[in-house]
Amino acid sequence: MLNMGLLSLYFLFLLLSISSGEISSQVGINYGQLGDNLPSPKQSVKLIQSLGAKRVKIYDANPDILNALKDTDLQVSIMVPNEIITNISTNQKLADSWVESNVVPFYSKTKIRYLLVGNEVISSSPKEIWYNIVPAMRKIKNSLKTYGLNKIEVGTSMAMDVLESSFPPSNGTFRSDIADPIVKPMLQFLNRTKSFYFLDVYPYFPWSMDPKNINLDYALFESRTIKYTDPVSNLTYTNLFDQMVDSVVFAMKKLGHPDVRIWIAETGWPNVGDIDQIGANIYNAATYNRNVIKKLTAKPAIGTPARPGWVLPSFIFALYNENQKPGPGTERHFGLLYPNGSNVYGIDLSGETPDSDFEPLPKPDNNEPYKGKIWCVAARGVNASELGSALSYACSQGNKTCDPIQPGKECFKPDSLAWHASYAFSSYWSQLKTAGATCYFNGLATQTAKNPSFGHCKFPSVTL
Ligand SMILES: *[C@@H]1O[C@H](CO)[C@@H](O)[C@H](O)[C@H]1NC(C)=O
Ligand SMILES: *[C@@H]1O[C@H](CO)[C@@H](O)[C@H](O)[C@H]1NC(C)=O
Ligand SMILES: *[C@@H]1O[C@H](CO)[C@@H](O)[C@H](O)[C@H]1NC(C)=O
Ligand SMILES: *[C@@H]1O[C@H](CO)[C@@H](O)[C@H](O)[C@H]1NC(C)=O
Ligand SMILES: *[C@@H]1O[C@H](CO)[C@@H](O)[C@H](O)[C@H]1NC(C)=O
Ligand SMILES: *[C@@H]1O[C@H](CO)[C@@H](O)[C@H](O)[C@H]1NC(C)=O
Ligand SMILES: *[C@@H]1O[C@H](CO)[C@@H](O)[C@H](O)[C@H]1NC(C)=O
Repeated sequence: MLNMGLLSLYFLFLLLSISSGEISSQVGINYGQLGDNLPSPKQSVKLIQSLGAKRVKIYDANPDILNALKDTDLQVSIMVPNEIITNISTNQKLADSWVESNVVPFYSKTKIRYLLVGNEVISSSPKEIWYNIVPAMRKIKNSLKTYGLNKIEVGTSMAMDVLESSFPPSNGTFRSDIADPIVKPMLQFLNRTKSFYFLDVYPYFPWSMDPKNINLDYALFESRTIKYTDPVSNLTYTNLFDQMVDSVVFAMKKLGHPDVRIWIAETGWPNVGDIDQIGANIYNAATYNRNVIKKLTAKPAIGTPARPGWVLPSFIFALYNENQKPGPGTERHFGLLYPNGSNVYGIDLSGETPDSDFEPLPKPDNNEPYKGKIWCVAARGVNASELGSALSYACSQGNKTCDPIQPGKECFKPDSLAWHASYAFSSYWSQLKTAGATCYFNGLATQTAKNPSFGHCKFPSVTL
């Protein structure tokens, strides 16, 4: 006899998969290009395919990459750069000509399916641009219609900082400065055009800012025991990713758009970080990415507690470690691949390879906050004239930052550029770290736990 319970469950899944549209759960990859040592577009496309990716997102409309993607099965997401959003927002002709030169020539052979108008505009660009995103999205959508490119969805990517509250998830609320003027019309547009809310979501960041109160296993999808029940929705969470995604779902609900589909535009975990950054290592990166891929490719779709069974299409961040990204060390180490094309760890974006088929991972050694002193010194082999400029800049900041390296003072000798720059960087960083200064200087500086001081010269340090 047929088990009626199972049968109705089956129909339920069928219904859910129909109601969430034809979109498939396949996982894609973000192909960022902020490196001076990356493989060619042609080689990159081969690597993308070898990783089992079915989709690829780029941060521009690079013609070499779009040509390299010709005649592949990869679905492609391209981007209108933030800098031209304002002009496009008021000028239909400009939108038309952008689409004409960046999309039309490639469309028939390259499966361009998504077009993002800007990258995290609300997190970075000048405020004036924020108000132009939706008008620019409308103009671009019109242009696509004009050229008959109806298969392309238009969206824009947003980070979690567009929310003013994300905890508990039911309390998810968009920032009051953007909710009505920007997010509401955007959700209307996304609903009307059957597009997606493109969300960048990184459990790494909230965990690393509060590792005492958030359990690492909860952030890595590894906990079998930790459960959090939202006291208002009564929904029970077993990982941080679901919590973050649902806070966006609840925020959308509050603006009257409970049904706009979410696309995970970026998620990932860094494989290396600076000494003062916790939990950025190969073990955690592999664990997070393998687990999130398992979740996102599961059939039938898992969804989240607020949207059980919904498909969450996605792009993992990122293809390569990108050596030219500014900011802390983690920013340059989200890659699944090193710039030479070899894997940082075993990974299969199709979700078909069981974990047991991968090589054992190196044990994590920075899952606890670093305790001790850190110095900031000149990196090896860097450009001398750039190092000289960075030295002058560091010395111009803070109070008496470079007094000890003046002639005759205790840190003047050895009288070398690298030595003086190292002193200046350490002095600058120790004074200004709490005000947000970083030990980076465009790649000229690096952190060290080894005290560079000698003789009477004592280098200032940062204590964690
Ligand atoms: C935008 O338009 C203005 C006025 O036509 C022009 O001066 C400016 O260069 C344009 N900006 C960009 C980024 O194309
Ligand atoms: C809910 O969010 C508001 C801000 O939107 C915040 O003030 C409040 O503390 C949050 N509630 C809880 C229980 O965290
Ligand atoms: C959550 O549970 C409480 C207590 O059982 C109940 O009063 C409340 O209505 C529930 N909330 C929702 C949204 O189901
Ligand atoms: C658009 O909104 C309507 C009304 O809330 C909803 O029924 C529909 O599913 C939404 N469609 C999309 C694609 O978001
Ligand atoms: C690629 O680069 C990584 C990191 O620098 C290195 O460990 C690895 O040996 C390199 N692989 C090859 C094949 O050169
Ligand atoms: C060093 O940097 C300067 C300024 O960016 C540049 O003009 C010069 O060519 C660089 N020198 C070397 C050896 O790369
Ligand atoms: C420099 O000294 C002034 C006056 O004593 C003080 O207000 C300021 O905070 C100091 N700046 C730093 C970076 O320590």
